[in-house]
Amino acid sequence: MLWRREEEVEYSDGDYLIRKAKPSDAKGIIDCMQGVMDEKIYLVSEYYLLTEKAQQDHIRSPDDLTLVCEHGKRIVGVLTLQRGIFKKNRHVGTLGIAITKGYRHMGLGTRMIKSAIKWAREQGIEKVCLEVFSSNLNAIEAYKKIGFTVEGSKSRQFIIEGEYVDDVFMSYFIDDEEEIT
Ligand SMILES: CC(C)(COP(=O)(O)OP(=O)(O)OC[C@H]1O[C@@H](n2cnc3c(N)ncnc32)[C@H](O)[C@@H]1OP(=O)(O)O)[C@@H](O)C(=O)NCCC(=O)NCCS
Repeated sequence: MLWRREEEVEYSDGDYLIRKAKPSDAKGIIDCMQGVMDEKIYLVSEYYLLTEKAQQDHIRSPDDLTLVCEHGKRIVGVLTLQRGIFKKNRHVGTLGIAITKGYRHMGLGTRMIKSAIKWAREQGIEKVCLEVFSSNLNAIEAYKKIGFTVEGSKSRQFIIEGEYVDDVFMSYFIDDEEEIT
C-alpha cells in the first residue's frame, strides 16, 4: 500500500490509487493520454497537444480538476473537469476521461467520475457535461449507469474507420441528483 496524505486520496484499494494530479504527474498523464489516442477510436485528437510545461500549468489551475489513477508508479487513468471560464458558463464543467487499455471495465472510470462529481458539487458547479462518439457504446453505458443522460447529438460529425459517427452530448445535473456515493 502506497502511503499518501489522507486528503490527497480520492479512492484506494491497495493496487489502485485515485488522487488529484500533481505537476510531477505531467509526463505520466501525457503518456496515458497518448496511449489512448493511439487507439484512434475513442478521442477526437490523435496527438496530445499539451507540452509537459503546459500540462503542469493546467494541473495547477484552481478552477479545473485533474484526477489520475495510479497503478504502481504508472498512471493508467486521467480525468479532467474544466469549469466554464465565463460568468455565463461558470456553473458548467466539461468532463474528459481516458483509461489505459488493459485497465478498463474494472470500475476505475466510474470511481473517477464519481469523485469528479463530488468535487464539482463542492465547487458549486451545477452541470457536468461531456461529448462521446455514438460508436463508444461502453462509455455511453458507463455514463448512463452513473446518472448521465443524453441531451442530443450532432449527426455524422466524425468519420472513424470509414464509418460516420455522431457526436453525443451527455450531462449530469448535480442539483437533480442525490448526493453521489
Ligand atoms: C469509457 C471509460 C472511461 C469507462 O471506464 P471503465 O473503468 O472502463 O468503466 P467501468 O469499469 O467503470 O464500467 C462501468 C460500466 O461501463 C460499461 N462498460 C465499460 N467498459 C466495458 C466493456 N469493455 N465491455 C462492456 N461494458 C463496459 C459497463 O456497463 C460497466 O458496468 P458493469 O461493470 O456493471 O458491467 C473507459 O473504458 C475508457 O477510458 N475507455 C477508452 C477511452 C474512452 O472511451 N474515453 C471516453 C471518451 S468520451
